[in-house]
Amino acid sequence: MTLLKLSIVLIFITMAKTQNFTCEDLLDISDNKNSISLPRLQTMQRKDIITCLVHLGKKPLRSLEADYIWHSIKIFYGDIANIPESILAALQWVTPAIQAEEYYNITLGSIDVIQNFGKDYVLNENQLTAVAERVRDDFKEPEDFTFYDLVALKQILCAFNGSEIERIHAKAYKAAFVEIGELKRCSTDVLQGFLKLATDSSAFGPPDNWDNVVLCSIGALGEILPKKIQDKISKAKRELKSLTP
Ligand SMILES: *[C@@H]1O[C@H](CO)[C@@H](O)[C@H](O)[C@H]1NC(C)=O
Ligand SMILES: *[C@@H]1O[C@H](CO)[C@@H](O)[C@H](O)[C@H]1NC(C)=O
Ligand SMILES: *[C@@H]1O[C@H](CO)[C@@H](O)[C@H](O)[C@H]1NC(C)=O
Repeated sequence: MTLLKLSIVLIFITMAKTQNFTCEDLLDISDNKNSISLPRLQTMQRKDIITCLVHLGKKPLRSLEADYIWHSIKIFYGDIANIPESILAALQWVTPAIQAEEYYNITLGSIDVIQNFGKDYVLNENQLTAVAERVRDDFKEPEDFTFYDLVALKQILCAFNGSEIERIHAKAYKAAFVEIGELKRCSTDVLQGFLKLATDSSAFGPPDNWDNVVLCSIGALGEILPKKIQDKISKAKRELKSLTP
């Protein structure tokens, strides 16, 4: 018998003895290609699911599994409002399982929690609206956003409106402009808000004056710039490519 076969048998013997998957079993078995399946999750105790959350949520999950994990967390803590910040901060790909209505019982007031929700999980519009509403109520005013806040908020910024974006300090925008350039599916209203910040004298000033570093990393904002500037962006990117071997 090969070593591989032997270890598989050993894993199954262990499983048969305990009947239940633990986080450790999961780490042993997972081949890093497939995400966890529902039948496997159903053999785990809730406390093990929670212990294992960082591992379970690392990769995109199907809604079946994400829903099951979120449901297990809610039952374990008894009430959404009781779920600790450390768990909310570690949800990752379990996040899409949270229904829009459920956000009204979640507090999005700390940067660690916000950072989880700012990643791009392709949430639906109702979910994004609910997240933005929580951040408005629980976190700082846009005038007070720092570079770190902007980098954590990321995709949540796209659920704000242009007039809120314009309230952000141009200096904070300038420090985070590369990350903001990576935003996905932002409305034109929001992008116009960011453009106003980008063209402020304490950021980069008029687009005609932007250097190649700015042009190459302006990202999503490029979509709403005049053709003339878009051509300069393409040229700057070509030049950058020819410089890197
Ligand atoms: C396995 O999990 C079930 C429910 O999750 C629990 O009732 C049972 O006691 C566990 N068995 C062992 C051996 O831990
Ligand atoms: C929010 O919390 C309240 C009070 O605990 C509860 O009655 C309500 O069902 C919760 N809403 C959701 C969507 O979980
Ligand atoms: C932008 O959103 C804020 C917060 O919801 C709201 O008070 C404001 O009226 C909105 N502004 C516009 C122009 O829609």
